[in-house]
Amino acid sequence: MQIKKNILSGEEYPLILAPMAELSHRGIRELIHGWGGCSVFFTEMISASGLRANSPFERYYTDFGPTPSKTIAQITGSTTEDIIRAADILLEYDITGIDINMGCSAPEIRKKGGGSAWLTREKEVLYMLRIIKNTMPQNKTLSVKLRLPAEKEMSDFAMFLQKICNSGIDFISIHPKTSKEKHDRPARWQHLKELKRFINIPLIANGNITDCSTLLSRKEEYKPEGIMIGRKAIQSPWFFSLARKRMSGDKSPFTVDIEGEGIKAIELIKRYQPPEFWLSRIKRFFLYYTKNLFWGHNLFIKIKNSSTTEEIEKHFLEYFLKNPQEKIKEEK
Ligand SMILES: Cc1cc2nc3c(=O)[nH]c(=O)nc-3n(C[C@H](O)[C@H](O)[C@H](O)COP(=O)(O)O)c2cc1C
Repeated sequence: MQIKKNILSGEEYPLILAPMAELSHRGIRELIHGWGGCSVFFTEMISASGLRANSPFERYYTDFGPTPSKTIAQITGSTTEDIIRAADILLEYDITGIDINMGCSAPEIRKKGGGSAWLTREKEVLYMLRIIKNTMPQNKTLSVKLRLPAEKEMSDFAMFLQKICNSGIDFISIHPKTSKEKHDRPARWQHLKELKRFINIPLIANGNITDCSTLLSRKEEYKPEGIMIGRKAIQSPWFFSLARKRMSGDKSPFTVDIEGEGIKAIELIKRYQPPEFWLSRIKRFFLYYTKNLFWGHNLFIKIKNSSTTEEIEKHFLEYFLKNPQEKIKEEK
């Protein structure tokens, strides 16, 4: 099984796609896969209650291609019952594992007790993890992704973390920021050093990896068992491939067809997402992808204001008619 082998045997240093709502879906995973993929793909969070109700779009959330055996399905929910049942449903699929979202800071999720609000529900968390672990097939992983607590003292959190790690989960991913800190604030990696003392299972660290040199220095300094990458992997779907090269000391030129890759993203989103999702998912992708371009902010505003996918494509192609020198980018 991919992740256990990677994380526990250290065959390949794990570089992992973060779970991101409206982004870590099959279309984007295909785009990254086209560059050689990554060690493990997380899905976007899948609603436990939606899954149980078999709502109309569930088949898109449970499309685990292109590489189900390297894919971890992330569950979000606010009751132990919903999450335990959703885990049962997801474990029927040929995926590598399931992950419980205990980090999401979206107010609508926290209000119901889900996401990072789980950090205040210690007994229920430990009960839920034990129940799921007891019924899990041996060859699949159970993991938790969390943030730092906003409401708890760090020492209490460290004790809780220790209990979570002892509950039988296979690894833990930490985004070292509290639920009150927005995405534009830097992650506080220094906390991982202190917390590592309380973690006796593989730690996947996540937050603000913006280039290869940051990745390498974080790996060196904090020595997590793997690194999870979110927004940078959307801005640069080739980032995992580039990072592997640079990690192996290969400094050869790495060029990217920015125009071609953007068009491919639109095609893949349309191929693998339902029409109802096309506009939101394409716009969400370009929020990050346009950061590759000098006038990307202006282009994104046009994309954001577009009402059809054709209009988005037209603005994107027009950009390169005006700025042909930006079609091809040399990556460091
Ligand atoms: C648009 C967006 C959606 C996200 N959705 C999820 C999610 O579904 N589940 C989750 O655990 N974290 C989610 N996150 C948090 C990311 O997994 C990650 O922790 C965060 O982006 C920091 O990593 P980065 O700096 O590499 O982007 C989301 C982040 C973004 C930007």
